[in-house]
Amino acid sequence: MTDSSSDAPKTPAAPNASGGQAIWGGRFSDKPAELMQAINVSIGFDRRLAAQDLAGSRAHAAMLQKTGIITSADAEAILAGLETIGQEIAAGSFPFREEFEDIHMNVEARLRELIGPAAGRLHTARSRNDQIALDFRMWVREACDRTAAQIRALQKALLAKAEVHAATVMPGFTHLQPAQPVTFGHHLMAYVEMFGRDASRFADARARMNESPLGAAALAGSPFPIDRSMTARALGFDRPAANSLDAVADRDFALEALAAATICAVHLSRLAEEIVIWMTPQFGFITLSDAFTTGSSIMPQKKNPDAAELVRAKVGRLLGSFTQLAVVMKGLPLTYSKDMQEDKVPTFEAFDALDLSLAAMAGMVADMQPVVDTMAKAAGAGYSTATDLADWLVRELDLPFRDAHHITGAAVKRAEQLGCDLPGLPIDELQALDPRITGSVYQVLTPAASVASRTSHGGTAPDQVRAQIKRWKEVLA
Ligand code: ARG
Repeated sequence: MTDSSSDAPKTPAAPNASGGQAIWGGRFSDKPAELMQAINVSIGFDRRLAAQDLAGSRAHAAMLQKTGIITSADAEAILAGLETIGQEIAAGSFPFREEFEDIHMNVEARLRELIGPAAGRLHTARSRNDQIALDFRMWVREACDRTAAQIRALQKALLAKAEVHAATVMPGFTHLQPAQPVTFGHHLMAYVEMFGRDASRFADARARMNESPLGAAALAGSPFPIDRSMTARALGFDRPAANSLDAVADRDFALEALAAATICAVHLSRLAEEIVIWMTPQFGFITLSDAFTTGSSIMPQKKNPDAAELVRAKVGRLLGSFTQLAVVMKGLPLTYSKDMQEDKVPTFEAFDALDLSLAAMAGMVADMQPVVDTMAKAAGAGYSTATDLADWLVRELDLPFRDAHHITGAAVKRAEQLGCDLPGLPIDELQALDPRITGSVYQVLTPAASVASRTSHGGTAPDQVRAQIKRWKEVLA
C-alpha cells in the first residue's frame, strides 16, 4: 500500500495525477487502465471470428474499389495484405495481441505493418459495429449449417440401425411402465423425426438471418456511395438488411440459433437417458462397446455409459447459453452497446457442446447393439398385449370398447392370481369372463402379432416402419 499523505512525493510518471489530483492519481493512476483493458479485451475469444472478419474485409475492399471510394492500387495492396494475414492465421503464426483489443483491430494493425498507411483506408464507410454484426452473423450461419449436417449424420446412423431392427420387438412405455409392444426400429425412427425437425429449425433460422448488416456502419448508414447489395452477394447473403439501426443492434439470429440448439440438445438428452436406462442390468436392452463406456476405479465389474450421461447433461450448457444471451440483450437501448460483446462466448460454448454431443450420439447409436431376446421377453411382460385382447373383443364379439376394457381388466387380474401372462391364461378362464371367446384370441396376444397389427399410418407394424425408413432415406440421400 502506498501512503497518500501530502508529504509523499508526486510521481511524474502517473498520467492521471495532473491538476492537483495527487491523492487519487498517486494511488490509482495506472490501475484503471489495466482493469479497463482486462474487462474490454475480447481477442481471447473473438479470434475465432478471424476467417469471417477477413472475408468481410475482402468483400468490403472490393466494393470500395468498384465504387471508386478507394483507388485500385490501395485496394490491391489491402487484398494482398489480407491474403498474407489469412496465411499467417492458417499457419498459426499470426500475432494475436491483447493490446489491440479485438479481432478487427488485430487484423487492421497487422495490415498496417504489412502494407503501410493504405491499411487505414479499409475502414472507410465501415464501423466495428457493422463489422462485428457481420462476422458474428456469418459465424452463426456456418454453425447452423455445420450442425444441420451433423444432425443428418446422426439421423443416418439411426436409420441404419432402425432398418436392421424394423421388426425387433421391445416394450413401448408410457409413464416408464410397459404399455404396448413396439419395434426397436419404430422407437429409433421417432428420434429421426425429432432430429428432422431440429435440422429444419436450423434451416429456418438460417434463412431468416441471411441479411447482410455490412454498410450499416456505426448505426446510421454511410455518406459514401457504397454498394451494400454487392457486399451482401459476395458474402452469400440474400440481401442487405433494410434498417441500419436494426442491423447493428440485434442479435436475435444468435438467440434463434441457440433456441434451436437447445431444443436439439433436449432431444439428445432424452435419447441419452434411454441409452442409460437400456444399459442397466435391470433392463439389459442394449450393449455398448468399450469405445463408448468407461470403467470404475474401484468396482471392477462396472461398465458405465459416461458418454450418454454427458450428452444428457450438456443440455444445461445449451439452455444456459440461451439464457445468458437473452439476459444480455434484454432491455438494451438501440443500437450497439458493449454489452453485446458478451454474445460470443455463450454462443461458441453452446455450439461446441452441441457439436460434441451430436458426434458422440451418432457414435453411440452406431455402436449400440440391442439384446434382441431380452427385449422380446420384456415386450411380452406386464400384460403388454391387454389392449390387443380388448380390441379383439370389440372386433370379434362386437362389444363396446368400455365393456371390452372391463373384461380385459378382469383377465389381467386373473392372470396375476394364477401367476401367468395373458397368452398363458387357459381358455376356460377366458370363457368364464365371456363364453363367446374362442381359441383364436391367442393369435393376437403375442408381441409380434401385436406390433404386426398396428398398420395405421405411422404405426409400429414393421411394414409401416420400413415405409418411413424408405421415405427418410430419400430425404437424406
Ligand atoms: N469487440 C466488439 C464486440 O465484440 C466489437 C465492436 C466494438 N464496437 C465498439 N463500438 N466498441 O462487440
